Amino acid sequence: RKWNMSNAQQTLAILKPHIVKNPFSLNQVKNIILKSNFEIVCLKRKIISIEEAESFYSEHKGQFFYNRLVSFMTSGPSELMVLARENAIQEWRLLMGPTKVFRAQFENPCSLRGQFGLSDTRNATHGSDSPESAVKEIQLFFPEFS
Ligand code: TYD
Ligand code: MG
Repeated sequence: RKWNMSNAQQTLAILKPHIVKNPFSLNQVKNIILKSNFEIVCLKRKIISIEEAESFYSEHKGQFFYNRLVSFMTSGPSELMVLARENAIQEWRLLMGPTKVFRAQFENPCSLRGQFGLSDTRNATHGSDSPESAVKEIQLFFPEFS
């Protein structure tokens, strides 16, 4: 099957606040994204509101890390992106690496989380985990696009 920008799969990616705060990391992450054949379809830099973070991470409400996660994600500007390529959801999660920073660093040190993750919460990037969540997440942050 031939893929092009009109039928490529899309995923929501977030570059988390500690990446956006560091111009060197931000530039490196973007270069890796483009070298990995993702197209950045939409991009916005914004401070995620507490309401948006709570809704975005609602499946984790009640987890021990939930409050820490919401306060980190709202602590400064993030970069939100719609990424497109063949098999974008799975490929982006592969490029990000494991959620937990110790696993990322030991099992996949070349992954984005392996290279740029600072802790389980400050793990550099977000990626949608299924086609259903990709649609929902893109809708939440890019209502004008979807
Ligand atoms: P989760 O959906 O499990 O991971 P992923 O981002 O890989 O889909 O968790 C969402 C976010 O919650 C995760 O990116 C960072 C935070 N988190 C923690 O802070 N501590 C943890 O132990 C876990 C599992 C997640
Ligand atoms: Mg998840």
